[in-house]
Amino acid sequence: MRKNSLNRRQFMHIGAGAFAVGATAKFTLLQPHLLSAAARPVAPSDTIRFASIGTGVRGCELLEATLAVPGVECVAVCDLYDSRHDAGREAVKKNVPGTRNYREILDRKDVDAVIIAVTDHQHRRIFEDACAAGKDVYCEKPMSHTVEDGFAMVEAAHKNSRMVQIGSQRVSSILYAKAKEIYDSGKLGEVTFIDAYWDRNSPSGAWVYPIPPDASEKTIDWNTFLGDAPKRPFDPVRFFRWRCFTDYGEGLAGDLFVHLISGIHFITGTTTVAERAQSGGGLFHFKDGREFPDLIQTFYDYPNFRMTLRCNLNNDGGEFIGFYGTKGTMIIKDSTLTYKPQDTRPRPEGYSVIGWPRKLRNEYLSKWEEEHPMPAPLASRVDEEAEEYTVPPGYSDIPDHQANFFNAVRTRKPTVENEIFGNNAAIGCHLSNFAYFNKSIAVWDAKAKKIVKG
Ligand SMILES: NC(=O)c1ccc[n+]([C@@H]2O[C@H](COP(=O)([O-])OP(=O)(O)OC[C@H]3O[C@@H](n4cnc5c(N)ncnc54)[C@H](O)[C@@H]3O)[C@@H](O)[C@H]2O)c1
Repeated sequence: MRKNSLNRRQFMHIGAGAFAVGATAKFTLLQPHLLSAAARPVAPSDTIRFASIGTGVRGCELLEATLAVPGVECVAVCDLYDSRHDAGREAVKKNVPGTRNYREILDRKDVDAVIIAVTDHQHRRIFEDACAAGKDVYCEKPMSHTVEDGFAMVEAAHKNSRMVQIGSQRVSSILYAKAKEIYDSGKLGEVTFIDAYWDRNSPSGAWVYPIPPDASEKTIDWNTFLGDAPKRPFDPVRFFRWRCFTDYGEGLAGDLFVHLISGIHFITGTTTVAERAQSGGGLFHFKDGREFPDLIQTFYDYPNFRMTLRCNLNNDGGEFIGFYGTKGTMIIKDSTLTYKPQDTRPRPEGYSVIGWPRKLRNEYLSKWEEEHPMPAPLASRVDEEAEEYTVPPGYSDIPDHQANFFNAVRTRKPTVENEIFGNNAAIGCHLSNFAYFNKSIAVWDAKAKKIVKG
């Protein structure tokens, strides 16, 4: 037998496709990089003064996260529900002024930037007004409530030359940065399929939020909350569980698909919208008057790959994205990233020859071996090339995402998730819902900037 060639037994194993990549992986604990966002200490004169418009659950989370970001100062909070002024102050640990009227904040010359953390149906109006007032904007995801809203917001940002960051924070995660590095290295080969899910099984996961005892028409500006949505009598369920209703939210697609799409667009460098989408699902458990399904799955066609996304509120599966390439597989599962190479060494077709008599089979395999000499490095196993990465305990990508925004405000260098990126990701959510509710294929008409039935 030639030197460096495999023996007959190994050869047969290769032929049968059983030469598996090993289970052991090189493990790396990733290091946080928040402070690198503000390359050097920030001079007091460079402090960015900002206000949060919307201090509900997310507004408070973001305000708290700003405490870790160097060189920023919260100077006001705004919300339609009075108790949330206090919640905002508590989150930012500062007794800043609170108002129901965001225009008071936009009129202030000493405010450089605003966080918009209001219900999705209010994003457009506040975003447009903030841009017109010369404020830079961190706007929560999904950027838009409708396709039309998204393009109007892009126009407002461009017309007023504003720095914009949309709030899908995975895009700033150290785990996703590593995933992008692996993807860009070409180690996965050609990636033709991506699947992702975000499953959770709890009242919180399904937005069954309690109504605070002081909620009333006195403490909440209900009419302003409705905005352009159809007029209705005061309804605290709609105010606090707005994600369940089409007038204000986009259900699971707007809440969770947008994170998955943003992460996938970031890692793959995708700058387009999917060409078409098909959805299925249903409402199985949370039959509480909501207008969205508690299970939804969408199959998307992108020019270079296909993708499925799923959210299921009836099983606690966590967060997952899989990238399937011709040379390897990359999986993000919650806070862990794994890369597993495939054995792409040349191999004979060895399955069908099981049905050949031994003599013919051996002749075929010998001939194949003669015709495919294997260079030495390829002859060794590839176990050690598998990789695993995780984030340090307690790591959060929220301050990283904010640091990226505030640094961009200071330097005028691009943000990681600007209005075009955010608009594309949000259109992915709208495609999913369009296909689900119309029970038809949703086709993206890029020229008309519209979703149409396929
Ligand atoms: N990036 C993430 O992981 C993440 C997580 C949660 C929520 N979000 C997003 O953040 C936004 C807020 O979600 P939430 O969970 O905090 O909702 P929430 O209901 O807890 O808070 C929304 C607040 O917006 C206020 N609001 C609405 N219209 C307003 C207006 N015109 N002026 C002032 N305040 C107004 C309401 O009074 C309410 O208190 C949504 O867009 C949501 O999708 C993002």
